[in-house]
Amino acid sequence: MSRRIIPVADLSAVPVISGPAQAPSGALHDTLARPLRDLRISVTDRCNFRCVYCMPRAVFDKDYAFLPHSALLSFEEIERLARLFVAHGVEKIRLTGGEPLLRKNLEFLIERLARLSTPAGRPLDLTLTTNGSLLARKAQSLKDAGLSRVTVSLDALDDTLFRRMNDADFAAADVLEGIAAAQAVGLAPVKVNMVVKRGTNDSEILPMARHFKGSGAVLRFIEYMDVGSSNGWNMTEVLPSADVVARIAEHFPLVPLEAHSAAETAQRWGYADGSGEIGVISSVTRAFCGSCTRARLSTEGKLYLCLFASSGHDLRALLRAGASDVEIATAVAEIWQSRGDRYSQLRGSSAAEPHAQEGRRVEMSYIGG
Ligand code: GTP
Ligand code: 5AD
Ligand code: SF4
Ligand code: SF4
Repeated sequence: MSRRIIPVADLSAVPVISGPAQAPSGALHDTLARPLRDLRISVTDRCNFRCVYCMPRAVFDKDYAFLPHSALLSFEEIERLARLFVAHGVEKIRLTGGEPLLRKNLEFLIERLARLSTPAGRPLDLTLTTNGSLLARKAQSLKDAGLSRVTVSLDALDDTLFRRMNDADFAAADVLEGIAAAQAVGLAPVKVNMVVKRGTNDSEILPMARHFKGSGAVLRFIEYMDVGSSNGWNMTEVLPSADVVARIAEHFPLVPLEAHSAAETAQRWGYADGSGEIGVISSVTRAFCGSCTRARLSTEGKLYLCLFASSGHDLRALLRAGASDVEIATAVAEIWQSRGDRYSQLRGSSAAEPHAQEGRRVEMSYIGG
């Protein structure tokens, strides 16, 4: 195949195919021998919440320049890329945002993605991360469209605290209603993600554990991360997962559980009385880059190889310049094969510095959680 250079404004971000064509083999590995297994697709950079750790209102205000509609990948473009990623070995697709349920007609995209299967003929694990505010209304149509399960973010049960954290006056009861609706239609297992900020919502750890114990939902506690460039992250606000586990175990004895897979982000703990499990995601105190199989596709079609990256690879430019499937698949292969990202492992060391110096880190609301 001839060498192809796509002329667009931001040349540094446009993939330049340099080697022979690579038809997808289902087995791509990066420079650290990590396979490509998960694709997280952000379908909008907008959100109706202004969580203090993600989209602080002082930055994401009425003057913030969200992407125009023309910049967004269409559902056809997303499906085409997803199909190529699946041929390369992706088995799990997560739709994220911003808030993905704000994307109009998202069910149509889910229908398309649900029809994809792995090279071995297995269905995809097709899931979505949502803040839950629109879930009660949408759970049934999401299920009907072919979504496998959902993960719902919820940072507090206490309404005053929850409203303070989402900074958009949403009530915890609305999210709880969404979680119940998801369980009722079988979008299971429902996972509930709580970002813990020491001094802000750590008082909610026990009430949340008590509430979800025995409910069938899996509550996961996430260490507050230094992702993005606008949340003013400070290590003093991180509560290590070990402390979370200790606080819960004082009241409800816990036993460690085996990981479902090597690439799992959460460490699992079961209630000793058999009434379910919790998880802790310790990206600050116990980085899991060694088994990171995740690629992220931004709303406008840039491929990011790490949550902490400051630049992506512009697949939309390839799509819109008329690249063939083999050309796009080759570009993706070359990008993944040269990946060496492991930011969380390097955090704080001088080796992490070049990463940070490349530019401002991309926001999580743009790239997806
Ligand atoms: P499940 O299969 O549902 O367990 O998905 P998951 O383990 O990928 O979890 P989820 O998508 O719910 O991610 C939960 C949180 O973990 C995210 O919101 C992030 O805070 C963190 N997280 C997920 N993936 C990564 C990652 O690649 N790197 C880092 N540093 N944090 C991550
Ligand atoms: N630290 C940890 N997790 C974060 N999320 C967003 N910002 C952060 C952060 N700074 C994750 C949360 C939320 C999801 C949408 O993104 O898990 O539930
Ligand atoms: Fe929105 Fe989720 Fe970010 Fe909160 S964490 S502002 S709900 S995208
Ligand atoms: Fe993967 Fe980057 Fe997260 Fe490490 S910091 S687990 S490489 S996304």
